[in-house]
Amino acid sequence: MLLAKNENAVHMREKQIANEIIGLLIANHDTAITNVVNHLAEFPHIYNEVYKEQMEIAKSKAQGELLNWEDLQKMKYSWNVARETLRLAPPGQGAFREAATDFTYAGFTVPKGWKTYWTVHSTHKNPKYFPDPEKFDPSRFKGNGPAPYTFVPFGGGPRMCPGKEYARLEILVFMHNIVRMFKWEKLIPGLRLIYAPAPIPEKGFPIRLHPLHN
Ligand code: HEM
Repeated sequence: MLLAKNENAVHMREKQIANEIIGLLIANHDTAITNVVNHLAEFPHIYNEVYKEQMEIAKSKAQGELLNWEDLQKMKYSWNVARETLRLAPPGQGAFREAATDFTYAGFTVPKGWKTYWTVHSTHKNPKYFPDPEKFDPSRFKGNGPAPYTFVPFGGGPRMCPGKEYARLEILVFMHNIVRMFKWEKLIPGLRLIYAPAPIPEKGFPIRLHPLHN
C-alpha cells in the first residue's frame, strides 16, 4: 500500500492505509461476535453447553497458560454455535465475479466478461439444505454437516476469504473468555438486524454483564 499509486501516479493517503489495515484487523468478526453474544443470551441451554466446553479447556491449562492451536480444535461445539450464527446472519454478503473466458455450464453459455454477483443468501435459508431454516440449531453442523457449498459465509473456491482461520481464532478466543467471565442479558428484547451491508443491530446491542467471579 505504501508503494501503490493510482492511475494519476498518486500514492495512498495515510488515512486510507490506516482504514484498510483496520478493515483487515476487524473484517466482519465484530459483527459475527455481536450475533454470537446475542444467541448465547437468547438460548441459555446453548450458553451452558459452550460454558461446559470452554471450562473443560480452561481447567486443562496451568495458571496463566495461554490458549494454543490444539485448544481451538477442541472447541467443536462453540464453533458449531458460531457457524450457525454465520449461517443466519452472514457478515459478508457475497462478491462480484466476472467470467475470465467463454465457458458452458449446465447447458448455459457464459461469455467472457459476463458479470454476476454470488450471494450467501441463495442457500443459507433454503429449507432443502437447512430444514426449519429460521431455527437456531448448532446441531446442524454435527458430523458431516451441511452439503458442500451450501454453507458459504466465507465464500468458496480460489477466492474464498483468506481471513477465515484468523476469524475463527478470534471468534473462539472471544467466546472462551466471555463465557468464563460473564453471564449476560439483553436490555432490548429480540434483535432486528439491518444490513448495512453487514448485519448490525438496528438499535445497537446493549447488554448487562454479570461477572461470574469477583
Ligand atoms: C467472520 C469473519 C469474516 C467473514 C464472514 C468473511 C467473509 C468473506 C467473504 C464472503 C468473502 C468473499 C469470498 C468470495 O468472493 O468467494 C471474503 C473475502 C475476503 N476476506 Fe473475509 N471474511 C471475514 C473475515 C476476514 C478477515 C479477518 C480478513 C483479513 C484478516 C478477511 C479478508 C478478506 C479478503 C482480503 C478477501 C478478498 C479475497 C479475494 O477477493 O481474493 N476476511 N470474506
